[in-house]
Amino acid sequence: MAALFTPFTLKDVTLRNRIGIPPMCQYSAVDGVTTDWHLAHYTGMARGGAGLVIVEATAVSPEGRITPGCTGLWNDDQVPGMAAIARAMKTAGAVAGIQIGHAGRKASANKPWEGDDHIANDAPGGWQTISPSAIAFGGGLPKVPTEMSLDDIARVKADFVSAAERARDAGFEWLELHFAHGYLAQSFFSVHANTRTDQYGGSAENRGRFLLETLQAVRAVWPENLPLTARFGVLEFDGRDEETIAEAIALVRRFKDNGLDFLSVSMGFSTPDANIPWGPAFMAPIAARVRAETGLPVGTAWGMDIPADAERSIVDGQLDVPMMARAHLADPHYPFRAARELGVPKASSVLPDQYAYWLARYPGPQNGDPID
Ligand SMILES: Cc1cc2nc3c(=O)[nH]c(=O)nc-3n(C[C@H](O)[C@H](O)[C@H](O)COP(=O)(O)O)c2cc1C
Repeated sequence: MAALFTPFTLKDVTLRNRIGIPPMCQYSAVDGVTTDWHLAHYTGMARGGAGLVIVEATAVSPEGRITPGCTGLWNDDQVPGMAAIARAMKTAGAVAGIQIGHAGRKASANKPWEGDDHIANDAPGGWQTISPSAIAFGGGLPKVPTEMSLDDIARVKADFVSAAERARDAGFEWLELHFAHGYLAQSFFSVHANTRTDQYGGSAENRGRFLLETLQAVRAVWPENLPLTARFGVLEFDGRDEETIAEAIALVRRFKDNGLDFLSVSMGFSTPDANIPWGPAFMAPIAARVRAETGLPVGTAWGMDIPADAERSIVDGQLDVPMMARAHLADPHYPFRAARELGVPKASSVLPDQYAYWLARYPGPQNGDPID
């Protein structure tokens, strides 16, 4: 049996296989409430056979949305739609995950296909952003954020806790804290975004404080038997990566000591001047280092969609859960394709019976013998 199709158990949750779908914003919510688009999209992904499907970056407060179309869990009206999605994904056999986050200085932007750039504060969908320091990201995101006060910091941590409680009440079983990609939490950690001189800035320990305190506060309300995970940018590809990775790994060890169960290893995206070595599975060795030096189970995305690469990442002990994002947009039944490519017996059985019976004979005559 291919390693990619072996189960993975974390706390009381078992993924039916190692294929994870990382969060992908759909920019299709109204006032943070999910729509029919989300229900169909996530149900389809879960029916495709992945072990874990993580719902998109969901804002913990209105100003924490990346775009006006992003989902939220800052009020109770947003729970029923999410509950329907979690239920449908579980019925389809996937573990239902969700990422909660705050977009910080990258918030208040247009949808990617409408420019991906900041919306002026006085235009519809525009609002004043917040961040650890009053430093703009730059490029198409030029708005200067307001430096957060200690009260702001306390409020956002409380917002994370409330969103985690709503995610729990909606039936999600895998919570991912968004500590990556240049959004608020990553901005606290990053020297590109944080020049504070109080206890939340300066040393690596201080820059990690917001992340650690948020994790601790969420752990207190997230059920002990369910995985609490984070996505964290452990490097920036900005020329100072050894230092950043060392600081990040030290922080991840503290996350682990404080109840983190799994890390989705990613990049910081805190500066537009990064020099990223895109390529198949290029983050796998970095994730493997985090795994080896922290003892935490890890996953990563970014070009993990060649099935042989994903398989090797598990066999070689680099990753526990490879994540494939755009491959699932191209083909929500990607796990079936991967199973066929890896020679898994009865590959079609990764799909629901409604599809599997027919696809076991496909291509070929409908009434022929199974070819799986
Ligand atoms: C449409 C789209 C939306 C995304 N939204 C999120 C998100 O909400 N949160 C996040 O952490 N990453 C997000 N990402 C990044 C993906 O999770 C993933 O890391 C990236 O697409 C690379 O994986 P891939 O090469 O398999 O596509 C998004 C990517 C895409 C294509």
